[in-house]
Amino acid sequence: MASLIFLSVWCVMFLEQCVAEKPSNVLTYSAETDLQGQMFSVNKGGSVTLLSSGVGPLHNFTVCLRHISEESDSKIFFTLSLGGVHGISLKSINTRLQLTVGRDSEAFQSTFPVNVDFTPPWTGLCTTWTSSSGMAQVWPYGMPSVRKGMWRNQVFTGRPLLTISGFVGQVTDVHVWHYILSPSAIASFSNGKVLQEGTVLSWRRAQYNTGGYVVLEPVQVFQRALPCCGFPVGLGYSARKQKANRQMAKKTRRGNSKRRKWVMGKDTEGATAL
Ligand SMILES: *[C@@H]1O[C@H](CO)[C@@H](O)[C@H](O)[C@H]1NC(C)=O
Repeated sequence: MASLIFLSVWCVMFLEQCVAEKPSNVLTYSAETDLQGQMFSVNKGGSVTLLSSGVGPLHNFTVCLRHISEESDSKIFFTLSLGGVHGISLKSINTRLQLTVGRDSEAFQSTFPVNVDFTPPWTGLCTTWTSSSGMAQVWPYGMPSVRKGMWRNQVFTGRPLLTISGFVGQVTDVHVWHYILSPSAIASFSNGKVLQEGTVLSWRRAQYNTGGYVVLEPVQVFQRALPCCGFPVGLGYSARKQKANRQMAKKTRRGNSKRRKWVMGKDTEGATAL
């Protein structure tokens, strides 16, 4: 009798395990949904998968998203699988961005010049790659990184699946194009203006699946927190940068004023172009 009970308990546990371990191609996806103005809040252990409806060889790509996340030792912004063994992924490890394209991997510095234009609290993050030259680039805050060659002359085929997992924070406006966006389109994207919808994967026609603790919320929750005058000073990276910008502006004004006095004599007023 006891062994029978044990057996039935074991069976239930085993079955549960079977149900829990569905392979990823059995995931069910939402119908095409316009996610404009929405964001996924991804919590610890949560994941979001976006399915592309387009299938075809991928010679070039641009992947863009906007996120809010804390500086941490490591996070994975996205992995893009195309059905084959090799995919594409972008991670941050300490202060570097680690891009993997196929079997190649390169680290990019994520330090930026002071005058960066972006819309707090969101950070735009784009990645571009072209097969013919293999040149890859990452664009945090819409700013170009060094270009590094990787996985030259290779082509990705299969149905693209983009997964966000290994990341805690908010993510919105995830798009993938089969071509390389211009620098100005990338800069606009970082400022929250999506001029062209993704051709491989679009936030406006998203088929998605979520796993674990993920919440779909309107992006306005952040606007309500910032009613009038931009981002509060004193927090995190952007505030440090704003302070650096102000100090640089002050130093420049002081320098110009000194030069004006020296060139034009004391007590001179007005703008001077030197
Ligand atoms: C990929 O981009 C390059 C320019 O970087 C272009 O010359 C080429 O035609 C593109 N390939 C495809 C298949 O669109």
